[in-house]
Amino acid sequence: MKKFGLLQYPEKMSLSNRVFNLYFAKAGIDATYEDIVLTPQQFDEEVDNYIASYDGLNVTVPFKGQILRHVTPVEDASKCHAVNCIFQRKGYNTDWLGFYNSLASINVEGPLLLLGAGGVSRAILYALCKMGHKEIHLCNRTVEKALQVKEDFSKECEVIVESFGDLKDVLKGVRTFINATSIGMFGELFDLNVDDISHLSLVYDVVYNYTPLQEMAKEVGITCVDGKAFWYHQAVENLKIWDVYEEKIFTECFEQIVGAES
Ligand code: ATR
Repeated sequence: MKKFGLLQYPEKMSLSNRVFNLYFAKAGIDATYEDIVLTPQQFDEEVDNYIASYDGLNVTVPFKGQILRHVTPVEDASKCHAVNCIFQRKGYNTDWLGFYNSLASINVEGPLLLLGAGGVSRAILYALCKMGHKEIHLCNRTVEKALQVKEDFSKECEVIVESFGDLKDVLKGVRTFINATSIGMFGELFDLNVDDISHLSLVYDVVYNYTPLQEMAKEVGITCVDGKAFWYHQAVENLKIWDVYEEKIFTECFEQIVGAES
């Protein structure tokens, strides 16, 4: 039996766990997918054992950067400075493709504001550069992390770091707003109202449950892409890398689980 899993901390019952296990069962693939919890203290000492004994892994918060020390990153992953998928000791970044492919039929108009400076934000920035955007406004609660991202992407595009407190003002000058933080996951509100976003052409919210931000975008008729689309498209890339992808069955399983939740 093949073994796959998601390295994470703290523990959560991931969407990956639910969808991938249903998918393996329906597709007749002899495999399991587990949530694997390692504390940040255990991580460096124990992760190599998991890499050696699993057929494929995903990596999520807070290890997408730390894992780089334990795998050989492919070019995309090293440019993103983040790995979220492992196969045969190679580190891949499928988040950037998840973002990119979820926008295949949607026009991403600049100027753009990207909120967040974690692993997902880096992957999105990389995808935006690939789409040809040369200038991206970046805002993060911890400004030092935004400045580090700016430095790491200095060869790819111009990152303009904005103050987190100026979110409302910065939004006035952009057409696309991308939330790459977890704000909204537990119903938290941005300090924004519909008038602050009504001029936008696109809201992208990486949170996969229905958030107040998505609700506001819907209310004013703005195109809104959510974390479910993001998750689906990055998951497809993981399955392709692990060589266990069957499009039709996977899409059915995704819709079954996500449909039951919404
Ligand atoms: P991921 O891999 O999902 O990007 P991460 O690397 O832990 O996860 O990054 C989480 C991002 O969400 C960070 O930009 C974080 O801001 P800080 O760098 O200041 O920690 C942001 N974030 C999470 N919760 C937040 C909150 N309540 N308010 C503002 N930003 C938040």
